[in-house]
Amino acid sequence: METSNYKHHKLGEKTRIKWALFGALIWVFGVLLKLTPFFKKGFENAQNIVLNTVDLYFDNLPEDFEGYAILHMTDLHLDSLPEMDKKICKTINGLEVDLCVMTGDYREDTTGSFEKILAPLQRIVSTVRHQDGIMAVLGNHDTYLMIEPFELSGITMLINETIVIDRGDSQISVTGLDDPYYYYTDQSLRALEESKDGIKIALVHSPSMFDSASDNGYSLYLTGHTHGGQICLPGGIPVIRHLRHGKKYYRGVWHYDKMTGYTGQGVGVVGIPVRFNTQSEITLLRLHKKK
Ligand SMILES: [Fe+2]
Repeated sequence: METSNYKHHKLGEKTRIKWALFGALIWVFGVLLKLTPFFKKGFENAQNIVLNTVDLYFDNLPEDFEGYAILHMTDLHLDSLPEMDKKICKTINGLEVDLCVMTGDYREDTTGSFEKILAPLQRIVSTVRHQDGIMAVLGNHDTYLMIEPFELSGITMLINETIVIDRGDSQISVTGLDDPYYYYTDQSLRALEESKDGIKIALVHSPSMFDSASDNGYSLYLTGHTHGGQICLPGGIPVIRHLRHGKKYYRGVWHYDKMTGYTGQGVGVVGIPVRFNTQSEITLLRLHKKK
């Protein structure tokens, strides 16, 4: 699938050629933007990473998991901006969390070498202070070749599989899926169907599996991919979302049936290294029992 010229969506295959043409248009736009004073401002915006704290409430959260803290980072694109790892480490330094999750896109390109992101990623992994580990999935900019070095660095890669976390007599489960934007297969549906009951968290690179996760009783869906629009009109209105399904879930907290979702705006950027009317973010999610 990685060497084919198609995006493998849940809704069917689509050629990547259109994206190549679109990429060329973005490149031209980027060159023109660099000639204006807006570029400097957008470049500064992109490098300003903030820590957002979000409280989420669930009917069925076991008492043992009250206040459970999940550090969520998505779309790190570690080679997209200078010294990304230093900025990320500065933002999370001293934080103590229960779990850290990463929802894909670790490099800027979608193909080629990824060696240069391994050392920065290792520095980030060493900075995170967690109790239950660092779990991650791949995004559409990633390759299966990352799985082994990432695991050696201390990350648990979830490839259409579920891990159960215990606290006292209670459990929550975390299911990580393959990227559904380029690399969808029925195995991801199977992983959702096979998980147990109780509080279930899905880690998926893009929001487009929201309905399948909800149908299978998931309580929380953590995702990214959209960068919150990255370059938005005033008021945060996105020009591009890169979603075929679940377009309205492109940023922040959302709800679908009984499931809560969070779409992170991303830490890094792609294409033109700027942000307008969006915020580079790392998110600290705290789980609470609804009273
Ligand atoms: Fe991304």
